[in-house]
Amino acid sequence: MIVLAIETSCDDTCAAILKIQSLRFKILSNVVSSQVKIHKKYGGVYPFLAKREHQKNLPIVLKKTLTEAKNPKIDLIAVTVGPGLEPCLWTGINFAKDLAKKLGVPIIPVNHIEAHILANWLNSAIIHNHKVFSKSVFPAICLIISGGHTQLILMKNFGQYKVLGETRDDAAGECFDKVARILGLGYPGGPIIAKEAAKVTDRSPMINFPRPMIYQKNYDFSFSGLKTAVLYNFKNQPEKIKKSKKYIQEVSAEVQQAIIDVLIRKTLKAAKNYKTRSIILGGGVAANNELRKQFKQKIQKDLPNIQYLTPSVQFCTDNAAMVALGGYFRWFKAGRLKPEKIKANANLRL
Ligand code: KG4
Ligand code: ZN
Repeated sequence: MIVLAIETSCDDTCAAILKIQSLRFKILSNVVSSQVKIHKKYGGVYPFLAKREHQKNLPIVLKKTLTEAKNPKIDLIAVTVGPGLEPCLWTGINFAKDLAKKLGVPIIPVNHIEAHILANWLNSAIIHNHKVFSKSVFPAICLIISGGHTQLILMKNFGQYKVLGETRDDAAGECFDKVARILGLGYPGGPIIAKEAAKVTDRSPMINFPRPMIYQKNYDFSFSGLKTAVLYNFKNQPEKIKKSKKYIQEVSAEVQQAIIDVLIRKTLKAAKNYKTRSIILGGGVAANNELRKQFKQKIQKDLPNIQYLTPSVQFCTDNAAMVALGGYFRWFKAGRLKPEKIKANANLRL
């Protein structure tokens, strides 16, 4: 089976082609067209601007994807239907529907959060079994950390999810993005903050930010207070300090560490309480090197029998390869749907 996937839930226009044969799969092409240059000016994503760019980019991205995959015969089209920015989602859905009609193939809706989880299976070249794939990792605790979401999910098997907790305000990625904006560092903030933080060799105890909700019993998160703490700290500095490399690097390191501390503590607590076999990360923030490293060290130390899965860095941020895999699994669960039933849902739940 050959699946072509379209992903336009935020500011990346993505298309990919996945070939699945005798329980093995191969990514034939995976194209991501970033709109970073456009949104950089504003320090964030503007939905209607992003929609316009998706409309412009989709035909180009599709052509590139088909050419790279050597124009294979497509059997199924997968498309992200939510959660995400509604105008952006609709652009991808309408494009995918037109394409499905033109090619005379079925179309399957995919949940963006589920796709971020499944990105972990893109690392292995084998699909274990589309009904009970890779049983040994379940139950799993999934931490999905992106620009729009921060969720802790108990995954019992493919398609069986329970959201244990989520952010009450800003997502972890949003916090990185907003802090970068305060410091005048550009967009997206995550990779820039990570780069600045990595330059710090000797951490000064002078800058201390809160670890919001870290000791609370629930599995929810809150990152907007952390961003506000950075804002006040920044405002109270003399102009000379604000612009100094040392200050920017130290704020970056401390804010990154505050986010990591909260995420690690809550995720490991959930894994212990639910006696899970694995911890699975996903989403753009899971590309953060320091976070990946510290998770690994802490799991090895505190929960040595637990498996730790992270997608390869290129599959953490938005891409359509993960959507193609999600579409393939959904196809076996849900089967054929009427195209008119496929709608955008900005707040789609797992
Ligand atoms: O999953 P994603 O590509 O899009 C959404 O679904 O939102 O995540 C984008 C987010 C942005 O907030 C970006 O700043 C963050 O992921 N991000 C990172 C890193 N790379 C991307 N955050 C921290 N460290 C990184 N290396
Ligand atoms: Zn995403």
